[in-house]
Amino acid sequence: MNENDTEKMYILLSDEYEPTQNPEEADLILINTCSVREKPQHKTYSEAGRYKHLKKKKPNLIIGITGCVAQQEGENIIKRLPHVDLVLGTQGFYFIKKALETFRKTKKPVILTELKPDFKIPLILEKENTSIFPNKRVTAFVTIMQGCDNFCTYCIVPYVRGREISRAPEDILKEVKELVKKGVREITLLGQNVNSYGLKEKGYPDFADLLDMVSKIDGLWRIRFTTSHPKDLSDKLIEIMANNPKICKHIHLPLQAGSNRILKKMNRKYTKEDYLRKIEKLRNAIPGISITTDIIVGFPGETEEDFKETLEMLEKVRYHEIFSFKYSDRPFTVAQKMSNKVSEEEKKRRLKKVHEVQAKITKEIYESYVGKEVEVLVEGLSAKSKDMFMGRTTTNVIVNFKAPRLDLKGALVKVLIEEAGKHSLKGKYLETLKI
Ligand code: 5AD
Ligand code: SF4
Repeated sequence: MNENDTEKMYILLSDEYEPTQNPEEADLILINTCSVREKPQHKTYSEAGRYKHLKKKKPNLIIGITGCVAQQEGENIIKRLPHVDLVLGTQGFYFIKKALETFRKTKKPVILTELKPDFKIPLILEKENTSIFPNKRVTAFVTIMQGCDNFCTYCIVPYVRGREISRAPEDILKEVKELVKKGVREITLLGQNVNSYGLKEKGYPDFADLLDMVSKIDGLWRIRFTTSHPKDLSDKLIEIMANNPKICKHIHLPLQAGSNRILKKMNRKYTKEDYLRKIEKLRNAIPGISITTDIIVGFPGETEEDFKETLEMLEKVRYHEIFSFKYSDRPFTVAQKMSNKVSEEEKKRRLKKVHEVQAKITKEIYESYVGKEVEVLVEGLSAKSKDMFMGRTTTNVIVNFKAPRLDLKGALVKVLIEEAGKHSLKGKYLETLKI
């Protein structure tokens, strides 16, 4: 979501600025930030501090901090870092043009951190010939909702991104159509909790219907979405995923913890049994679907027994990949005030254990692809080796492969998998299916 917000700012600024890789050359430096855990928040301050000396050399340089840390910290940022000129929160960054204008006039820091519950996400489309995205893009994100009403007790998101607001379906469709016109083949619909899309609004489709509407767009080949909350994953959505060939066979379904006691303390509103039932339904309806998840270790009060239940869930579900984190105290949250915090050392140990258990499962799953033919949407050249292409399977596994032709970016190809790596597969190009 942060990446998508950054893209929006690029588009908004594209008539005035062009991107540079070199901070010394920049007239404007924006640091878009995440505050979901403490570490990225610290990074904001160190990153912003790094640009202080540039301002001495170039007094007209404008420095701004945007996104969740800006939202969380507000004017504290200016107090700690007086060389910062703009502090634009998660709704405020949409008004970057206006903020710049005000700053140029007043030369005083501009802070936009109001969160309006009735905020409407503006429709920002790339203008012709002002593209800041160099080559043609194959995949793109589209934000369908902002904010969250779930208040998981560890999570800062509801406080820094505000109440859940769904975007109008017409705007979403318009944005997807524009991207497809520019050559995009795969869209990832974004929201903190996409399964509750439209439910608060009168006359909006629900998420399953929205997927169906998006899938009718000609020239769009693949649709992904993230993130799903297990409590809101409906049978209707599973059915649409099973029947609509454009929807990728992958779901990111954050479990967070395997112990019902901890899930309750986290305010997740499902039990591990509920979760496993949904997994079974998904697997029955969509054979071969890949499932990924988020795990937090060391939530306050998590005992060794609780933790073992998380490991058991990894073995039971057999995720393709997981994202795992040490619990991190966040301001405003309920968990921050809980007792029985788990020590840093213990959290480290548990995280390591989670990595070990999952590495084995991922390896086994990836090895099961060897010898199979898969469809890959080619995103471009591989980052590691310039004579290889990179793309993804419908199950969201990265595939690197060599091919005898050079015009494959954006094509859907068939690849024979020959080798499994830690987080990717290697294979041989067989044929082009669609271009
Ligand atoms: N500590 C650790 N991990 C967290 N996440 C959210 N808040 C915290 C926190 N306070 C993780 C969750 C979520 C992912 C995006 O970040 O696993 O799904
Ligand atoms: Fe945070 Fe929970 Fe909302 Fe996800 S669903 S953004 S973890 S409060």
